[in-house]
Amino acid sequence: MTNIKTKIGKVELTNPILVASGTFGYGEESDEFIDLNQLGGIVTKSITVHPREGNPSPRIVETPSGMLNSIGLANIGVERYISEMLPKYTDLDTAVIMNIAGSSQEEYIDVMKRVESVSNNLTGYEINISCPNVGKDGMEFGVDCDLTFQLTSELRQLTEKLLIIKLSPNVTDIAAIAQSAEAAGADAVSAINTVVGMSINPVTRKSNVYTKLCGLSGPAIKPVGVASVYQISQSISIPVIGIGGIITGEDVVEYLLAGASAVQVGTANYRHPAAGLSILDEFIDFCEKNNISDLTELIADLQDDS
Ligand code: SIN
Repeated sequence: MTNIKTKIGKVELTNPILVASGTFGYGEESDEFIDLNQLGGIVTKSITVHPREGNPSPRIVETPSGMLNSIGLANIGVERYISEMLPKYTDLDTAVIMNIAGSSQEEYIDVMKRVESVSNNLTGYEINISCPNVGKDGMEFGVDCDLTFQLTSELRQLTEKLLIIKLSPNVTDIAAIAQSAEAAGADAVSAINTVVGMSINPVTRKSNVYTKLCGLSGPAIKPVGVASVYQISQSISIPVIGIGGIITGEDVVEYLLAGASAVQVGTANYRHPAAGLSILDEFIDFCEKNNISDLTELIADLQDDS
């Protein structure tokens, strides 16, 4: 039996498969289709200080091997998250990571302060500095090393829980942003959020998504995700959580070889909410067939040709 436990900061996950923020609601919506406790962890939908309706529809469109979305961070706001969601997580036996978004440093801080002021069993936070769908506010921090450093430092002072910074591929040098997050005290980074994309109806000549520019996810972006994880893991020593187009167990292996310590399954959850568990089964199967005794044997074990 392969040991598939993995460590992110001081937290040990029972396995490397988490579900990605925004593709799994707040967790509770899927619990009739999937035993949540079998996942390595759940990253809940981005939460902002105030509730948000999100962008007008259409907000999602399928593309070859991918999906474009522009939800606009629709969410219930931090107060309802605290009163309605946090109590539901107390019975779970898996890592629950809260994703936080904001349009200013103060907003991120406000959300985290409110959550930290109540008793909860969250494992940690993933900080969304990489949403491409809310204008410049969504990515302002994620494209700037200094802002990433400042925001991460501020949040680091507020919590001892796991602090993960979610990075955007829509930058010149993703590894430099990761280095800023590490220098400011992040426990890990997750990469990648969606790639900016667009889809136009040739007959109506209109955009297929209301906001025109939106975020591409799914297998179409897996090579971008794997390359980003590789570049990041060569530049920092904190763990990297790989995201982008994972639909099979071998996709997980690919991300681990590029340097990830765990992965998040996103768009595949729209096909089936239990996708994470079938991917986990395939991953275990791969490890056993290839005589891998411990998952750590795979992490950053990319071999050279020669
Ligand atoms: C959205 O709400 O538009 C997507 C969230 C994200 O890409 O960070």
